[in-house]
Amino acid sequence: MERTFIAIKPDGVQRGLVGTIIQRLESRGYQLVGLKLMQVSQELAENHYAEHKERPFFPGLVQFITSGPVVAMVWEGKGVVAAARKLIGKTNPLEAEPGTIRGDFGIDIGRNIIHGSDGLETAQREIALWFGDSELVNWTSSAQSWIY
Ligand code: TYD
Ligand code: MG
Repeated sequence: MERTFIAIKPDGVQRGLVGTIIQRLESRGYQLVGLKLMQVSQELAENHYAEHKERPFFPGLVQFITSGPVVAMVWEGKGVVAAARKLIGKTNPLEAEPGTIRGDFGIDIGRNIIHGSDGLETAQREIALWFGDSELVNWTSSAQSWIY
């Protein structure tokens, strides 16, 4: 079953959006297989955003992501990588559609509440970066037979 990495950024945690965000993914029918609240190290932040290393916003991005607790999650289900990106909405919240997480709760691109892996390979890399095998739970909720 497909898995993706989702992180609620420090602004989402500070603003009390953790429950709302988890609810949206759960209600859609996706299943949590990993969840932890953590303070992100400089090293993890730089590794996670390595693709943006040369971009002008990189230092600010790393500073932001390490500025407070983050909720790191792994979600599982059919098509979850692309579906989660749709639920999250466009990178710039001002351009994100209402009904998406960023479109409903954000304004500024540097405070866009949530991260989601942008593809299958990225998801695998990010899950391995943020979670150890023992932190992921293989299980099937009884709701699955009503969702699929
Ligand atoms: P990116 O991977 O392009 O977006 P997404 O989170 O939608 O996959 O960029 C990573 C983060 O970097 C993005 O969530 C917010 C920040 N960012 C900026 O602050 N300014 C920018 O111009 C861009 C493109 C991103
Ligand atoms: Mg990205």
